[in-house]
Amino acid sequence: MKRAILTTGAAFLAGGLLAAPLAGCRGDRTDKPPRRFFPDLDDQPKWDPQETTTFYPDGIVERQTPAHAVPFASVDFDPTAYADEAWAKPYLDRRADMLAEDDAVYRGVEVDADGVATYVDEIPVEVTRPMIERGRHMFNIYCVACHGYLGDGKGMVGVRWNYPPANLTGDVYRDRANRQGKDGYIFHTIRNGLDGPDGANRMPEYGHAIGVMDAWAVVAYVRSLQKARGSDWADLPASDREELGEPTPPGGDQGDQPKDGGAS
Ligand code: HEC
Repeated sequence: MKRAILTTGAAFLAGGLLAAPLAGCRGDRTDKPPRRFFPDLDDQPKWDPQETTTFYPDGIVERQTPAHAVPFASVDFDPTAYADEAWAKPYLDRRADMLAEDDAVYRGVEVDADGVATYVDEIPVEVTRPMIERGRHMFNIYCVACHGYLGDGKGMVGVRWNYPPANLTGDVYRDRANRQGKDGYIFHTIRNGLDGPDGANRMPEYGHAIGVMDAWAVVAYVRSLQKARGSDWADLPASDREELGEPTPPGGDQGDQPKDGGAS
């Protein structure tokens, strides 16, 4: 019992000694800089809004909009008024870009005079090799699980999915005469996913993860997957044909070569 009282007393004493320098003279005024255990950005040099400064000739800290500045995208401005002026083109392009104003690029549709939207047949931006490679990168991240590396709809998740994923290399998606064969439709599906007639979601949307330009890149890659499946030697560029030489027609004992082998 006595021992317990002693121990508790010792603990109080030790605790008090430790706390003393921390609590110190709380509430007392001092000219010394405060102790900081977690220094952060409180101490950086700064101006308060209504202070004066010698930095600007007029001494005002809170800066005003410079004279003749035009607020961007918040004025009545008719972009068609300058459409033919060469100097205006880069500005108009940037403006359209920032306002996501271009239906073809941002929504994959063309809107006619009556406001009726149809999917664009072709990718409305320039297709380059790095773009197709980017498309492959994104496709392999986001689409392969269901649609498979070949785009045939037989991905690991796809074969177990509640709805069979589309074979993207099938005829319906190759022919731009079909609604589903248009570049704009594939773009739209990537960005918005797909619901069945009953309203149930069949394919998730990827607009949150695949930006506009990346979605076009995926469309370009889907096209190259299609090409890789259904093309033959004659479709290759002349330089590649020269390098490979004329294909020998299959026949005789060709072993286990796939039927469409070599047609990449
Ligand atoms: C979780 C599985 C899943 C993933 C991931 C997925 N899809 Fe799909 N996709 C489906 C299913 C299922 C369908 C068929 C829906 C139906 O029954 O109409 C489909 C259909 C499609 C169609 C055809 C739409 C139509 O109306 O015929 C396209 C094009 C397509 N997907 C492209 C893609 C692309 C490109 C990606 C990658 C960005 C992707 N999908 C990712 C499941 C998926």
